[in-house]
Amino acid sequence: MLGPIFGGRIAEDAWPVHLARMCDFWSSVLLKSGRYEGRPLPPHLALGSDAGEAQFARWLALFRPTALEVLPPAAAQQAIAHAERMAHSFRISIAIHNGDDATRIRPI
Ligand code: HEM
Repeated sequence: MLGPIFGGRIAEDAWPVHLARMCDFWSSVLLKSGRYEGRPLPPHLALGSDAGEAQFARWLALFRPTALEVLPPAAAQQAIAHAERMAHSFRISIAIHNGDDATRIRPI
C-alpha cells in the first residue's frame, strides 16, 4: 500500500538523501539535536488522496513494531507517541487542505 507512494515520489538515487533527512528528523525529535530544519507538512499535503486514512493506519501499524524492535523501550514509546501526534496533525491539516470536515478526525 505504501511502497508505490514512496516509489513514485522518491527516485532510486534520491533515497540516501531522503533517509538522511529522516535520520535528522528523528534525531531532532528524540535527542533534541536540532539537526532537522525542514518543514514536514508540505510534502504530505502534496500526496493528495494517496494519503488517506488507510495509508496513515498502515504507516502507524508498521512504525509501532519497528520502533519497539530498533529502539530501547522508553525511546520507542517516545517515538511512537510523537509519530501518533504527527500523523494526527497531518490528517487534520490534509482534511482542511482538501476542504473536508476536520472535526471528526480521531487519533488512529
Ligand atoms: C501515510 C503516511 C505517510 C506517507 C505516505 C508519507 C510519505 C512521505 C513522502 C513520499 C515523503 C518524501 C517527500 C519528498 O521528499 O518528495 C515524506 C517525507 C517526510 N515524512 Fe512522511 N509520509 C507519511 C507519514 C509520515 C509521518 C506520520 C511522519 C512523522 C512522524 C512523517 C515524516 C516525514 C518527514 C519529516 C519527511 C521529510 C520532509 C522534508 O523535510 O522534506 N511522514 N513522507
